[in-house]
Amino acid sequence: MDFKLTEKQQFIQNMVREFAEKKLAPGAIERDKTSEFDVELYKEMGEMGIIGLPYPKEYGGSGEDYMAYALAVEEISKVDAAVGISYSVSTSLYGGSIMASGATEEQKKKFLTPVMKGESFGAFGLTEPNAGSDAGGCITTAVRDGDYYIINGLKCFSTNGPLADYYVVYALTEPEKGAKGLSAFVLETKTPGCSVGHIEDKSGIKSAQVSEMIFENCRIPAENLLGKEGDGFKIAMKTLDGGRIGVAAQGLGIAKGAFEIARKYLMQRKQFGKQLFKNQYLAFKMAELKVQIAQAEMMLYKAATDKSLGEPYSQSAAMAKLVCTDAAMKVTIEAVQMLGGNGYMREYEVERMMRDAKITQIYEGTNEIQKLIISGSIFR
Ligand code: CAA
Repeated sequence: MDFKLTEKQQFIQNMVREFAEKKLAPGAIERDKTSEFDVELYKEMGEMGIIGLPYPKEYGGSGEDYMAYALAVEEISKVDAAVGISYSVSTSLYGGSIMASGATEEQKKKFLTPVMKGESFGAFGLTEPNAGSDAGGCITTAVRDGDYYIINGLKCFSTNGPLADYYVVYALTEPEKGAKGLSAFVLETKTPGCSVGHIEDKSGIKSAQVSEMIFENCRIPAENLLGKEGDGFKIAMKTLDGGRIGVAAQGLGIAKGAFEIARKYLMQRKQFGKQLFKNQYLAFKMAELKVQIAQAEMMLYKAATDKSLGEPYSQSAAMAKLVCTDAAMKVTIEAVQMLGGNGYMREYEVERMMRDAKITQIYEGTNEIQKLIISGSIFR
């Protein structure tokens, strides 16, 4: 398979790289310290067409392919992975749920447009305190009442929860059927009965806003159902397949960001009368990391290309997520070590990247769940 980027993809990659280096990089350390998200910069990404990259123009998008989107998440995450995940959740989890459900024209126009233009955030509510890896174990309910559904329950670990105007929630319409009774809904978070619960204090991706979302007799129009009743679990699974390409891109971005900091450091810093990279142990370490990054890149671009071409991508997305996020963890840990005492200090950035890398191995399906998906596809 040929991964030579098209001229358009290269243009988008360069545009996002320039934005990331000029606008996002300067405040990344500060945002990590304060845990504050810069909404204005996010809106700028929307104005540039970055948020809605893989969506049709009629729904506020830029009409590009998933590969262009993966390249953009990678570039953003090279300098600030917290922005990378906030972007990825709006685009691939919130927007992805709407697209995967076979939503109506009206639903797509109303619910995709403001989020894909970056005027607002979207969030995704599947996980619950007792339904993490076992996503089918949700207990949030949606009871039909005339032209409305009444939602009750609690979702946790919702990235963008405190910022989102729009939210996709997965709730049981037929609780006795378990996962087969799960349905997907899109709603406006200003709806009475919907509120933000506990806001998480995390180890990494500090400025990304992650919270519980609480539903207490939250009455939403019946036309907010995505697809049909009972379609919810499959919509969630299809959505997560796409989301995992976003997290893989985030992981690859973190790995490349940390690698570049280490590369420069090894060339600049002298110990024992020579530049650090002249120690073969460190040069070989960098060679190994370079190979791991190149492998991860191949896996990501394969999965993104599969999705762009309309090929099956569940397995390639899971493999890319596994390999790219493991690369992020490995490269950042090694980068901290190679920078020595400086590596442990905030101003050198690799320790933040190491904290950010850890969650990429956990969310949107732990890497153990990715192995479950991959092995399941082998023995089907
Ligand atoms: N696409 C379409 N359908 C799918 C599918 C897919 N990728 N995967 C499964 N299905 C279908 C199956 O075909 C099956 O259909 P039938 O009943 O008609 O045969 C049905 O769904 C059930 O499938 P399984 O029996 O495989 O389901 P399971 O209960 O064993 O679970 C799982 C499978 C892969 C472990 C799933 O539960 C899973 O993905 N868990 C991880 C959840 C996850 O990623 N959560 C992250 C939430 S988002 C987040 O992290 C927060 C954030 O904001 C970043």
